[in-house]
Amino acid sequence: MTHATLIDEARGKLIVALDVPNIDLANEMIDKLGDSVVFYKIGMELIYHGGLDLAKKLKEQGKKVFIDAKLHDIPRTVLAAARNIEKYEADLLTLHCNSSAYRAFEQYRAESGKSNMKWCFVTVLTSEDDRDLGKMKIRRTAKFHVKELAVEAIKQGADGIVASAQEAESLRKDDDLKNNEFIIITPGIRPEGSSHNDQRRVTTPTNAIQSGSDYLVVGRPIIQADNPKDMAEKIVEEIADALAVKKNIPNNVYTIQRNNTSMLRHEKLLMANA
Ligand code: C5P
Repeated sequence: MTHATLIDEARGKLIVALDVPNIDLANEMIDKLGDSVVFYKIGMELIYHGGLDLAKKLKEQGKKVFIDAKLHDIPRTVLAAARNIEKYEADLLTLHCNSSAYRAFEQYRAESGKSNMKWCFVTVLTSEDDRDLGKMKIRRTAKFHVKELAVEAIKQGADGIVASAQEAESLRKDDDLKNNEFIIITPGIRPEGSSHNDQRRVTTPTNAIQSGSDYLVVGRPIIQADNPKDMAEKIVEEIADALAVKKNIPNNVYTIQRNNTSMLRHEKLLMANA
């Protein structure tokens, strides 16, 4: 495997959150990022400001789109909303882990079979930790709560779950889940030295890949960077280095065409994993 192939794979794992107030600013950001980003997330901020039409436009340009709607309502409403979102050809959709959402999903599958849009269930927001759960009278750790929610969501047929990398590793090893195929989407990604902002369960791109996350959602570290494209490329490289170690690609095969930062990081990772 060459460095270029790994970079392509890594690029497919980076989802940039288009958390900007309006479509003009979203288009500006998409232009700035150019080919460095192939997967975008449109969340509540833009969904309520023309974001679904933008999703369609992105799809026409060959990009992938994650509609982070975090649906949470009675089954009929959730199903109707999911069907409307599906018309915009979203690749991923989020719903909160909740029995009504499972019922909507069950009805969807009974009527339509398997969807091209992956139904992914949000466990505990990455902006919340054990203390925040306490404020909601949930008297268990975030790690345990995420695991319980994830196991149930997967049992209900979920295509994926949203969780921090701090839980991804144990989910991948969990006895109840190890025979199931499911996607883990991880927000709260912060390259070393970046501000955590309002996020609490944060992880670096390297740790997220090592822990078994499939997709890494990154918003502010990229969209608020002085040079968003450079930052996106740096994160893609970091993901590629972590993938190389995970896939046991020998260093002499992988070192072709790489810059010094990437080589040093890869060496460090190899030593840490030795
Ligand atoms: O700017 P930042 O990288 O923190 O953005 C993270 C994005 O991921 C936001 O759009 C947020 O809504 C979303 N998200 C999250 N935690 C979840 C699910 C989605 O942060 N559990």
